Amino acid sequence: MKIAESKVGARLAAQRAVVWAMAAGGDPLARLAAPPWRDNPYPVYERMRSEPIVRSRFGWHAVAGHDLCSRILRDRRFHVRSSDGVEPQPFTEPLIPADYAVAPTFLELDPPDHTRLRALARPAFSPSKIEGYRARVAKTTGELLDRALAKPEFDLVADFATPLPIAVISELLGIPDVDADRFGAFGRVVGASLDGVTSLRQARALRAATTELRALFGELIEARSREPGPDVISALVSALGTGELTELELLTTCELLLIAGFETTANLIGNGMWTFAQHPDQWERLRADPELAPGAVEEILRFESPVQMTQRMPHEDVEIAGVRVPGDSTVVLLLGAAGRDPAVFADPNRFDIERADTDHLAFAGGVHYCLGAPLARLEADIALRALAERLPRIRPLATPKWRGTTVIRGLRSLRLRP
Ligand code: HEM
Repeated sequence: MKIAESKVGARLAAQRAVVWAMAAGGDPLARLAAPPWRDNPYPVYERMRSEPIVRSRFGWHAVAGHDLCSRILRDRRFHVRSSDGVEPQPFTEPLIPADYAVAPTFLELDPPDHTRLRALARPAFSPSKIEGYRARVAKTTGELLDRALAKPEFDLVADFATPLPIAVISELLGIPDVDADRFGAFGRVVGASLDGVTSLRQARALRAATTELRALFGELIEARSREPGPDVISALVSALGTGELTELELLTTCELLLIAGFETTANLIGNGMWTFAQHPDQWERLRADPELAPGAVEEILRFESPVQMTQRMPHEDVEIAGVRVPGDSTVVLLLGAAGRDPAVFADPNRFDIERADTDHLAFAGGVHYCLGAPLARLEADIALRALAERLPRIRPLATPKWRGTTVIRGLRSLRLRP
């Protein structure tokens, strides 16, 4: 096992070196995966936008324009798995030990399995159901801020932006006694794996996190089968009884809802507050009129999207903007680039919480459109209103560092003085 792992480690190191060399050689997709370009992808996006579709030396295509991204997300010829059912691997071949097997979540499945599983989770996330959580989200927000603001300095990411959505999604799912730090670490590991596994250390951390989450949900499913509650897991467990999903599908659905339910929203709040720190005039506007909060949330989603890209595959050869894209090859859709497309957004690099054009693709589109969008919007709205009320000025103690990830965009920390 040790020998196999060291070989895996060496191959992953070689792959990292190849990605970096390709990035240095100017390959746009490699640049998005490699420092220093990764930290500020917007100039790379801008160059890519000069062509409707760009071919990378990876053999993949990438789309940076809003209109084409949007059309491909809604085009039924495009899928998340190849025609033989395989999911494309981002950037690097994930060389993980053979005993590490993960079943796909419905995010990674095409219809009809995707349709069946999403339909089971959907009722719990309807806009009206989610609106009913407003008072509880506001209460948790207040408690977390009381604690954070009592400190001489605090980390907005660790003390507020991460524990808030963890508390909310855990309550929805009915997970008791949550350790927010531990869940936060799971989220970072699983979120980073969307780039593909790029180091042995990451493979081990991913394996440990998934194993622990499997065990946690296994126990919870057993408990809810005996004694159902008003939570989402109990609702899904009842579908197990009618044969609408398998036990493994139930587990992966729980894992998806938990991780997608906080990892992204945490980055929305963190990215937003760092953007406001750099645009104090906009913070003043929000403080003067908290009713601008919903528009501010949309502007953060457009300007610093927590999910920068996704990918699709046509099952047969297709022509896109005059370019032939082979069947079963990967097309990367740059959602973060679409948010800065000047064809849709006037002066796209200007952060303006009152802009009228808010048609971003941060929640993607088509059949995989984010199921948790109403929840993310509610949490971010409440969080921004509370922060605007209680934090007259955003005073970072240092320039924060971006996490070393490509698909997920978020800060490692944001240390502030209250
Ligand atoms: C700012 C916060 C969020 C952002 C930016 C975001 C973004 C996205 C994006 C881009 C997708 C589609 C990916 C693709 O098409 O390949 C997606 C799907 C999904 N999101 Fe979110 N999300 C957020 C919050 C949430 C929350 C709070 C939940 C709650 C459970 C959630 C649950 C899901 C699920 C279940 C899917 C899969 C939908 C499907 O495949 O049908 N998300 N999200």
